[in-house]
Amino acid sequence: TFVVTENCIKCKYTDCVEVCPVDCFYEGPNFLVIHPDECIDCALCEPECPAEAIFSEDELPDGQQQFIELNAELAEVWPNIAEQKDPPEDAKEWDGKPNKIELLER
Ligand code: SF4
Ligand code: F3S
Repeated sequence: TFVVTENCIKCKYTDCVEVCPVDCFYEGPNFLVIHPDECIDCALCEPECPAEAIFSEDELPDGQQQFIELNAELAEVWPNIAEQKDPPEDAKEWDGKPNKIELLER
């Protein structure tokens, strides 16, 4: 399974949803998640993310382990998103900022 990690928060570029063949992305106010039971591990989304926020669960960077659980949890409650939309106007400013987990809105 692939996992959306911390750097997506407040960037939310949504390039990823455009390429997913099974439409397994779910959208919250300022973050996206992948449904782990629906992802078919095609890896198409990983290179599409301008914020480099998507990783295979086997290759998560240090400190991002909690996002496995968070993707599973939030994919159950957030609505599906299958089409790209405009990112937040300040997306670029937030790209790469540390500790964005504190800003995650549910
Ligand atoms: Fe969708 Fe493939 Fe990315 Fe899984 S790895 S979320 S199936 S694009
Ligand atoms: Fe987030 Fe990257 Fe998709 S910033 S919305 S995972 S393209």
